[in-house]
Amino acid sequence: MSKLEKLLKNYKKGKSISCITAYDASISKFLDSKNISIILIGDSLGQVIKGNKTTHNVTLQEIIYHSKCAMSGINKSLLMVDLPKNTYNTKRQALYNSQKVLDETHADILKLEVSNNIGIIEYLIGKDIPVCAHLGLLPQTVKNKLGFRKYGKNPSEAASIMNKAASLDYMGVKMILLECVENKLSKKITSLTNCPVIGIGSGPNLDGQVAVIYDLLGISFNKISSFTKDNTKYFDKIIKDFIKRK
Ligand code: KIV
Repeated sequence: MSKLEKLLKNYKKGKSISCITAYDASISKFLDSKNISIILIGDSLGQVIKGNKTTHNVTLQEIIYHSKCAMSGINKSLLMVDLPKNTYNTKRQALYNSQKVLDETHADILKLEVSNNIGIIEYLIGKDIPVCAHLGLLPQTVKNKLGFRKYGKNPSEAASIMNKAASLDYMGVKMILLECVENKLSKKITSLTNCPVIGIGSGPNLDGQVAVIYDLLGISFNKISSFTKDNTKYFDKIIKDFIKRK
């Protein structure tokens, strides 16, 4: 049984899913040893590794490089890899790049942001590409600070997210990730879909939670997300203790 089949089987039995990003072997090895279900090589690497304001300039080669680094530390956890912006604009390009990433990184599942590209996602599913559909806040399409907000507060936006989630579930995505989706809506999507729904900044009533490792460590290059507990004091103390050491 593949790691993905095992995860989906455990989900059906009620086991919750944990997902944390990693971009290198040491962190992925540590997370794997703590039985984290999914290690995500997110395009958030544009922000936390490269120090950019957005994820927009991450390349496929960078994602593949960091996935290979992280893969060295993974034994039990599932490896989920983001397709970066502009690498799945057409069906042909999406299939070519999905197969390239799967072949070169041995990822178990790919994550793609879903805006007006639902036909491309359906095409990939038809070609047996295991897809996690990312809905709500879509970092690859946000244009400015105003885009970093809760999604699904107004009825038409909520209906659009709900309809997309239902269609994607019906099409056969393996998982849905909701980013910054209003809590009641994420709860409703979780209860109505067959596939697992994991979330970040989308409330507690999902099948699992996602976090960016640097946010958890409290050492993010950009501002740490408001929904993450402030852990800055721990790393701060480690460095202060080190400086004081004789
Ligand atoms: O790239 C990433 O780390 C992500 C998470 C914010 C879900 O997509």
